[in-house]
Amino acid sequence: MESDARQIDLNDGNRMPRKLFIQTFGCQMNEYDSSRMADLLRESHGYERVDTAPEADLLLLNTCSVREKAQEKVFSQLGRWKQLKDDNGELVIGVGGCVASQEGGMIRKRAPYVDMVFGPQTVHRLPAMLGDLPGRGGQEAVDVSFPENEKFDHLPPPRVSGARAYVSIMEGCSKYCTFCVVPYTRGTEFSRPFDDVIEEIVRLSGQGVREVTLLGQNVNGYRGATHDGGIREFSELLHYVAAVEGIDRVRYTTSHPIEFSDRLVEAHAAIPELVAHLHLPVQSGSDRILSSMRRGYTVQQYLEWVLKLREAVPGISLSSDFIVGFPGETDQDFRRTLSLVEQVRFDQSYSFIYSPRPGTPASELPDDVGMETKRMRLAELQDRIREFAAGYSRDMVGTEQVVLVEGAAKKHAGQISGRTENNRVVNFHGPAGLVGHLVPVTITEALPNSLKGCLDAPESVQVA
Ligand code: SAM
Ligand code: F3S
Repeated sequence: MESDARQIDLNDGNRMPRKLFIQTFGCQMNEYDSSRMADLLRESHGYERVDTAPEADLLLLNTCSVREKAQEKVFSQLGRWKQLKDDNGELVIGVGGCVASQEGGMIRKRAPYVDMVFGPQTVHRLPAMLGDLPGRGGQEAVDVSFPENEKFDHLPPPRVSGARAYVSIMEGCSKYCTFCVVPYTRGTEFSRPFDDVIEEIVRLSGQGVREVTLLGQNVNGYRGATHDGGIREFSELLHYVAAVEGIDRVRYTTSHPIEFSDRLVEAHAAIPELVAHLHLPVQSGSDRILSSMRRGYTVQQYLEWVLKLREAVPGISLSSDFIVGFPGETDQDFRRTLSLVEQVRFDQSYSFIYSPRPGTPASELPDDVGMETKRMRLAELQDRIREFAAGYSRDMVGTEQVVLVEGAAKKHAGQISGRTENNRVVNFHGPAGLVGHLVPVTITEALPNSLKGCLDAPESVQVA
């Protein structure tokens, strides 16, 4: 469908080119939404994205409310932007994302200098909201509704630079884990139509993208409608995505253990483009806590999927999300989480201290694990996972890895940098012309946050 953006004429072309700064907090979904906002506003108003707030005419804050800390950051960031607005009355400030969705118009009560408030499902209405601002003939803009799939129908085709891109295949979540705000802030789960997803990936491939990451809260629960009235599920989608010409690597995140299936395990074994890495959040190693979190699986069931995956793809790297200090978590529950970590030997993972979120069922339970205990548990868990991750990195020394070259190395002048299948950054000497190519690299050293490598047979690598 044609983007709304093209129909808007603000008749102030003398102010071109306009500059847009977007500050993004939170997950990859928010990163994806931010890049789509930039695509949209480039097309509707000619905004070019800039790297710092003071040089911009429009400031957008894409927020996260998954944990309290992320939420607190919003108002301190807005406080800093208020000073910019005091100096420049023309500056427009918008707040989007999950905090916007949760707080709605309250944001403008606390920060009246904010001009627009929009939610994760209304980013496509930004051009219209800008046109409606007071002083441009309209009212203040607050729209945090959940119109299903309308967003995607009204966004322009994505424009990316670089070899990697995200593609949202599902929005929202209907799992209602008792600790999580996402179903309330991003709306209920829906899958984007199958043909739209494939069309977007074909376009991205045409722009030089070699690796796509399929995004959503539970991507493996994908069930997308096709143009002929059928439904394609996630493992089928993977086969089609991997078959798109030019796409050499496919990742997906996040998946949910209850949506795992034998067909997905088979897809891992059958699709060479699918990386040998999987992020599968478990949250806890205690059945009692999993049940209180309403996760819908037991530790045993989780371990059975791990076993099947490792049989299908020996050496697959597994990462996870953990929450420590959930209400009622005893020392024994926590020891069970550590024991699960020992059994699975997770690679680089995310772990968080439980943060009660307003409106969630868990926030009504007594938050009875003391902060000191929560911190100690987190540190112990993170140390153990770090040890496993460092071990995997050491084991990679001397092996040949396929690396997707992304660009110049950030901290090593004259070197280029890319990622392995298990998502480690590798820096090595090689020509800049390799950017966007998959190349064989022998790992020579493992550092805490990256690897060093040596390009294999550089003379035989074809540079475009
Ligand atoms: N869809 C994913 C899944 O299946 O688990 C998770 C999405 S959630 C936005 C990302 C991670 O944030 C979760 O896996 C969980 O570890 C963490 N998280 C969510 N709510 C939390 C809370 N109230 N306190 C601490 N961590 C939380
Ligand atoms: Fe949150 Fe659970 Fe969905 S962690 S995003 S409610 S799967």
